[in-house]
Amino acid sequence: MNSRARYPGRIVVDLAAIKHNALKARELSGAKLLGVVKANAYGHGLVESALAFLSAGVEYLGTAQPFEAIRLRKAGITPELTKILTWLISTNTDLEQLVDLDIDYSVGNFEVLARTQRLSDYLGRPIDIHVKLDLAFGRDGFRPEDLEPVIEALSDAARKSQIRIKGIWSHFALADEPLDEDSSKLVDFALVFRERLRFQGIDTGLLHLANSYSLILSPEYNFDMVRPGFYCYGFASDDNLLRPEVLGTVPAMRLEVELSNIKPVLPGEGVSYGHLWIADQPTKIGVLPIGYADGYPRLTKMAKAYSRKTSKFYPVRGTICMDQMFIDLGKTPDLKLGDVLELWGKEPILISDVAIQAGTIHCDVVTNLGKSIPIYYENVDALGDLAKIYEINSWLE
Ligand SMILES: Cc1ncc(COP(=O)(O)O)c(C=O)c1O
Repeated sequence: MNSRARYPGRIVVDLAAIKHNALKARELSGAKLLGVVKANAYGHGLVESALAFLSAGVEYLGTAQPFEAIRLRKAGITPELTKILTWLISTNTDLEQLVDLDIDYSVGNFEVLARTQRLSDYLGRPIDIHVKLDLAFGRDGFRPEDLEPVIEALSDAARKSQIRIKGIWSHFALADEPLDEDSSKLVDFALVFRERLRFQGIDTGLLHLANSYSLILSPEYNFDMVRPGFYCYGFASDDNLLRPEVLGTVPAMRLEVELSNIKPVLPGEGVSYGHLWIADQPTKIGVLPIGYADGYPRLTKMAKAYSRKTSKFYPVRGTICMDQMFIDLGKTPDLKLGDVLELWGKEPILISDVAIQAGTIHCDVVTNLGKSIPIYYENVDALGDLAKIYEINSWLE
């Protein structure tokens, strides 16, 4: 048994939940779907989550970092199974490796376009790209003032068969309100951009702009493909108002830990660093061997653990340590050593509840999970035939 299997805390990811949410996103949008698996699939495990997306029939997988796109191909996710798009192209990205592995990449500035043209000349074949536009975000992407030179450069490269435009795309900076002004300006820019290329007889591929908020709130921005991230992992909206139950999605991740010790404290005694909590009556403190090194945010206020066995919450007491935290079990504990407590998962404690109490957002919490905490997968059967790729990768781990 590998040593981490004895770790007292674990992440459990429900692959059927990711599949369900992805199917729901497709149904809701009526468009193609790109499964966003960047940042280790928002902490859910890159390859396993990618397979869950594939089992829902997504057309694309997407990663920010090229190394994650490469890992997907090396894990056996072949071009026959899906297209992959990667978008954080920097001066040291090995574009040839991406082309060899049939990974589409984003071109969002003239430097990457020029490198692509040179690579195409060297390889003697066209390269599949998605042209990135930018407006009011300040990240990579061609801006409206680039319109004339970029249309000229892309038309020239397309005519010379150096590139094939598989998509025109962007990302909204302010998509948490329906029809905010910057979003609609970006959409107008994208439509003009596409029209100008089409006018030159150039195939522009898929137009894709929508993230989760846009999918939920502004269906008119769905176009040919959508890229909802947090929606597909079953998170609530950042403000926590649109909870998964309202959205019809299912949270895919839970964080659980086993109770490892029960200790009495007397009135006046403090618990944990700095004694920020002092008992005002006799009680029993439960020790949970999990802490901020595992990814539970240290500055969470009013934190609670939940037991499915007793259907009760247990308040966290004192400062959260690097690898331990403490809960109040009351005078006569109804839990015993080894009982499992949930720190987040499906209702009643969502990741966003913890994130808000820690003064941040769910994506920040899940992408800061500790490297040593093991991830277990539930409902692997939901992958169907793709479970074979899952099995091979879990043997290799
Ligand atoms: C380019 C791109 N598309 C889609 C997404 C998904 O965003 P969200 O999780 O808000 O739906 C992200 C995440 O930030 C992204 O960077």
